[in-house]
Amino acid sequence: MANIIELNKVTVEFHQKNKLISAVHEATLQIEKGDIYGVIGYSGAGKSTLVRTINLLQKPTSGQIIVNGEPIFDSDHSVKFSGGKLRNFRQKIGMIFQHFNLLAEKTVFANVAFALQHTQISDKKSGKLRYLTTAEKREKVSKLLELVDLTELSEKYPAQLSGGQKQRVAIARALANDPEILISDEGTSALDPKTTNQILDLLKDLHDRLGLTIVLITHEMQVVKEIANKVAVMQNGQIIEQNSLIDIFADPQEALTKQFIETTSSVNRFIAGLSKTNLLQNLADDEELIHLDYASSELTDPVVSDITKKFAVTTNIFYGNVELLQNQPFGSLVLTLKGTLEQREAAKNYLSERNLKFELLSSLKKGDAK
Ligand SMILES: Nc1ncnc2c1ncn2[C@@H]1O[C@H](COP(=O)(O)OP(=O)(O)OP(=O)(O)O)[C@@H](O)[C@H]1O
Ligand SMILES: [Mg+2]
Repeated sequence: MANIIELNKVTVEFHQKNKLISAVHEATLQIEKGDIYGVIGYSGAGKSTLVRTINLLQKPTSGQIIVNGEPIFDSDHSVKFSGGKLRNFRQKIGMIFQHFNLLAEKTVFANVAFALQHTQISDKKSGKLRYLTTAEKREKVSKLLELVDLTELSEKYPAQLSGGQKQRVAIARALANDPEILISDEGTSALDPKTTNQILDLLKDLHDRLGLTIVLITHEMQVVKEIANKVAVMQNGQIIEQNSLIDIFADPQEALTKQFIETTSSVNRFIAGLSKTNLLQNLADDEELIHLDYASSELTDPVVSDITKKFAVTTNIFYGNVELLQNQPFGSLVLTLKGTLEQREAAKNYLSERNLKFELLSSLKKGDAK
């Protein structure tokens, strides 16, 4: 797939009083058409500043930005991109925000229609550019509201809506000019977990149906995990790691990335709490407890049922959290293997051959631990 967005060594600096703030430092990334690209980092990491350069809401200090093959910014060649051309370009990149940014005094319908006020189309008869007629706007807004399932609320005002409904209005508005790219800057951060999932489902659905490329800024790894296929991790203005979702989760390199991943799993908390239980003490002599990571990008076999069938070990699962990431099983199991020494060794060899990471928790058993 071709790159729809390319950032090459993009740097953004702010001068504040006597201080120079380096909000983004030499960020390089490629986003392919159809990606749902997550950008994750803590507050102040530079996520918003970075992403706002994509539609030139933020002008970089240096670097190069190419959108849809067109160099929209290049500090070496000073590409001119302004006025009507800039506006048309921006219309093709929709954006949603944490606090929705709706116009309080306008209805849902009028909020969406507002995004069409500068929209021009070429007239079928004359071939000249003209603004949309009232009837055309009405039709377009109706379609958009249908798309986000808000038709029945079209005459309501923002204050009468829930957070999730407000974000759906914002999504309809962001899609008004048929953008190919949708940027969500913490679009679910003000929502409860259930509503967050509904909005993420909607974004995924719009991605699938409209062929959208989505750039998703968030500080929550769970959000990334839910729908992104690629991830960039930002810290202190820099992209410290980027990879496909499955590879980021299977093989994180940076401490911060690992921290973010840990927030989406409670297996470490489970293991830390083991000492407070009798589980380890109660293991029989022919039984061991292992922590198995499903983190291989090639894994397709049902390994647990395989080892019980092939090696006649019996298993008992104490903790399990395996989900699909991009249709690949990913997660952790804590389970016992019971059988003769040979059977258990054969089972563990089988897991190793499949590049599954596991650790022996039985070694924490009394006598070994204090
Ligand atoms: N217009 C500005 N003028 C001066 N400094 C700015 C400006 N915009 C951002 N910054 C600074 O740049 C850094 C990155 O800010 P940015 O808003 O991009 O971070 P963020 O990752 O989006 O954070 P958050 O998660 O809180 O939204 C911060 O130190 C911020 O204070
Ligand atoms: Mg931000």
